[in-house]
Amino acid sequence: MFDGLSGDAFTRILDGERPEEVLESAIPFIELMSRYRCAMMEVETKLRVLDEEFSITYNRNPFETIKSRLKKPMSIVDKMRKKKIPLSVENIEKNLNDIAGVRVICSFPDDIYALAAMLVQQDDIRLIAKKDYIANPKPNGYRSLHLIVEVPIFLSNCKRYMRVEVQFRTIAMDFWASLEHKLKYKKDIDNPDDIAKELEECARIISSMDVRMQEIRNRIEQS
Ligand code: GTP
Ligand code: MG
Repeated sequence: MFDGLSGDAFTRILDGERPEEVLESAIPFIELMSRYRCAMMEVETKLRVLDEEFSITYNRNPFETIKSRLKKPMSIVDKMRKKKIPLSVENIEKNLNDIAGVRVICSFPDDIYALAAMLVQQDDIRLIAKKDYIANPKPNGYRSLHLIVEVPIFLSNCKRYMRVEVQFRTIAMDFWASLEHKLKYKKDIDNPDDIAKELEECARIISSMDVRMQEIRNRIEQS
């Protein structure tokens, strides 16, 4: 039984439970989310440290932007329901990999692999899973490198490994993914097959631009 997360907190108060008790039962969830926030900060800092070093040593930045987000409580509940797993702090931690998410937007595809390798080789990082949707794009054209990592966070009296989903993509891949995400939610599409084909074609064009831009960079660097 998962306490204190949702609209049923209100129902429980109406049913006669004391508001303080209802709020108290939300504390384990709030603590869990706080641990995820810390893990997200750890991963973001690790990547920013690499960026700092790169800009001093090689005079360039391996990524353009980095964004972190925590999954919203309602999205957590929806996902657990979809997976048909009973709601509890333990089950959430065990079954969801993307509560803490870090998205790294790189300039060139090569930077993605270089940065991902540098992150994973750090001795406190555990690599749990890797999905390379750049080498193997999704049928709809989606491209990105996804890592699920575990990172330790040091609390006042213990050390906890927390899972973080790290998505690496180029500016071009991000451009496609952002627009595709927006378009997906438009329901009044006349010809979905045609549109899917068109989107996949756009992803290919964008990907070939990534390769060409990288080749230009390589030529400039070698000259
Ligand atoms: P989720 O249950 O959605 O998290 O998917 P999953 O566990 O199968 O993992 P996957 O690596 O396929 O996708 C994780 C995340 O990648 C999603 O939550 C999105 O942020 C992103 N993503 C995956 N596929 C697509 C896609 O087709 N389009 C866009 N725009 N984003 C995608
Ligand atoms: Mg997800």
